[in-house]
Amino acid sequence: MATIKAAILGFGTVGQGIYHILNEKREELKNKLGIELEVAKILVTDTSRERVPGTAHLMTTSMDEVLAEPGMQVVFEAIVNEEPAFTYLKRAVEHKCHVITANKVMFAKRGLELQDLAKVNGVFVGFEATTAGGVPVIKTMKNILLVNDVSRIQGVLNGTSNYILTKMRSQGWSFETALKEAQNLGYAEADPYNDISGQDAFKKLMILSALAFGEQPDWADVDVVGIDSISAEQVKEACEKGLRYRHVAEVEKLADGKVVAKVGPQLVDKEHPLYPVDDVNNAVALDTNYIGTLTLIGPGAGMYPTASVMVEDYAEIIGKRAGFVVTI
Ligand SMILES: NC(=O)c1ccc[n+]([C@@H]2O[C@H](COP(=O)([O-])OP(=O)(O)OC[C@H]3O[C@@H](n4cnc5c(N)ncnc54)[C@H](OP(=O)(O)O)[C@@H]3O)[C@@H](O)[C@H]2O)c1
Repeated sequence: MATIKAAILGFGTVGQGIYHILNEKREELKNKLGIELEVAKILVTDTSRERVPGTAHLMTTSMDEVLAEPGMQVVFEAIVNEEPAFTYLKRAVEHKCHVITANKVMFAKRGLELQDLAKVNGVFVGFEATTAGGVPVIKTMKNILLVNDVSRIQGVLNGTSNYILTKMRSQGWSFETALKEAQNLGYAEADPYNDISGQDAFKKLMILSALAFGEQPDWADVDVVGIDSISAEQVKEACEKGLRYRHVAEVEKLADGKVVAKVGPQLVDKEHPLYPVDDVNNAVALDTNYIGTLTLIGPGAGMYPTASVMVEDYAEIIGKRAGFVVTI
């Protein structure tokens, strides 16, 4: 059986999810893809903690060591922030490794650059996990774009904000109570700024804009508003009128070709595609010329939904057998 080697950069929630899925699905992936994938290196900042039993010997803090591993061909990236993630992936691509990332902060800003570099080096970039977690919006959009034009994207792209708005409506909770519960349940970070300010949804929207339109609006021109100013009273009043608050990230290509975007709370009625999207779910509604409006709904984050789409990206790349050197 042919074997190729992979590295996992970052071994927190998502990185460990990738490792578990690759182990649990080892035989199945081997049979379906005809190639065995071996996790040969795991990059962390501190190797003294063995996060998963039996992985201590794989851990390193050095990207040089990752790339020096003979036969390294796939790099899964699940670390945080733009740097050093971008530099690591740039080096991996120049080393002719396929890369698969979950890092939306890095990819929103440097994704187009990374994809251009990958093209030059004949390798693939998988980024399904950067946007809407387990919802296969990237691969669906890539397929749709082969035939359709997408004119507008509207998304509920932050599960924490959506959970808070849902509980304010269904339980009559205040914003503060709903946020606290989201933190207790592990949906919101200890510092929830990125979620509730709209910044997290904004980054994901920029990734979708780049895919749909080949460009992003100037970031400074995008109005980004969070949900923290919405009161329980406003939610109740909306509910009585048959309306719901949704935190909507929206990007559109206007008739003159200009790409415009906004992120913020919107009141939606029963006819709106994002009306039924409750709790921590994410959703993306795509307006297309031939299909009409297509809405995808599902879990937007979490260890397994996110890691699962990254392993799917790997399977897709293997399916294309792009530039792999297999050792038998
Ligand atoms: N969690 C989700 O549901 C989810 C969903 C979609 C996308 N994402 C994205 O996936 C990425 C990872 O998220 P996560 O929730 O798994 O984060 P996490 O649990 O905080 O794990 C981050 C990991 O990255 C490692 N790391 C951080 N900086 C590093 C550096 N400079 N060099 C090497 N390793 C470094 C950390 O190492 P140490 O353990 O040594 O500190 C840790 O293992 C983020 O970009 C996030 O936005 C997450």
